[in-house]
Amino acid sequence: MSVLVSNPSLATAVSNAGGIGTLGGTGVSPDEIYRMVSEARKLTDKPLAINIMVAANNFLELVKASIRGGIDIIVAGAGISKQLFQVCKEADVEVIPIVSSLRIGKFVEKMGASAIVVESVEAGGHLGTDKTLDEIFSEIKQGMKIPVIAAGGLVDGNDIGRMLMQGADGVQLATRFVLSDECDVHDNYKKVYLDAKAEDITTIMSPVGYPGRAITTPFVERFAKEGKIPVPSCNQCLKSCSHTFCILDALLKARDGNINEGLFFSGQNVHRIDEILPVSSIMEKLVKETQEFLATQDQHQ
Ligand SMILES: Cc1cc2nc3c(=O)[nH]c(=O)nc-3n(C[C@H](O)[C@H](O)[C@H](O)COP(=O)(O)O)c2cc1C
Repeated sequence: MSVLVSNPSLATAVSNAGGIGTLGGTGVSPDEIYRMVSEARKLTDKPLAINIMVAANNFLELVKASIRGGIDIIVAGAGISKQLFQVCKEADVEVIPIVSSLRIGKFVEKMGASAIVVESVEAGGHLGTDKTLDEIFSEIKQGMKIPVIAAGGLVDGNDIGRMLMQGADGVQLATRFVLSDECDVHDNYKKVYLDAKAEDITTIMSPVGYPGRAITTPFVERFAKEGKIPVPSCNQCLKSCSHTFCILDALLKARDGNINEGLFFSGQNVHRIDEILPVSSIMEKLVKETQEFLATQDQHQ
């Protein structure tokens, strides 16, 4: 649930550097998402994606507004929607669902997905599995005909190379790109990431109904102790919510740099990243490291 973390400046920098930048399209209204996509569209003519949570209350409205804004790809997490495929087919927009099992992978392939993202327990945010990427990736890849993208805890070229060796057709990285110049979250957000140690990465049961990977901060500690944090007002952002805390409010507070009251979603390997770089440098570094990794693998064969 990327609430205003991957905005046009970050997503378009990734697209312009040769990747497929993905806007975070959750926690915003259809009008806001239209403006976000339109703004991004002015900054790149390269392929551009948006991630929208199927669990969002106005999911299809958000999809339609993204299409009106000129999006190329919808990446859909936290659920499956048959109508999504219909709407996107009519608009000639690609659909890439996020899945964690072969069964769901095959289902969305039949529905018309262009590719899938296989996301594992090392990922940031809501988790659809308790299995690692190494545990689930190969089986899913071998059972699919469409391209399979690996996601979860990948932060450098060795990680990417390892997944390419397992047959990945692409990789999706989130946490690495939060620590970029172009990611426009508050500086405190990046500080929480940079300060995080391996033992600080945890999970919290989200009101969405899935565990979410996050960094241990005062909010996480308070929730662990009290089990419920009063929700001041509810804008019904989710189809189904346990109301144990307001996830939208907690994620927005993190984005705005509130270390005490914010919830900082992050991948498991955030502690391995120690610098904020421009997106172009991150991309160059990842490509170089991956090429070096693959060259050493060739030598061993
Ligand atoms: C801050 C943050 C917000 C995220 N928000 C979403 C989201 O809204 N929807 C979604 O499907 N995945 C979301 N994710 C998961 C990413 O899309 C990605 O698949 C995953 O984090 C990859 O692992 P990594 O962060 O270790 O690279 C989020 C991840 C982070 C770190």
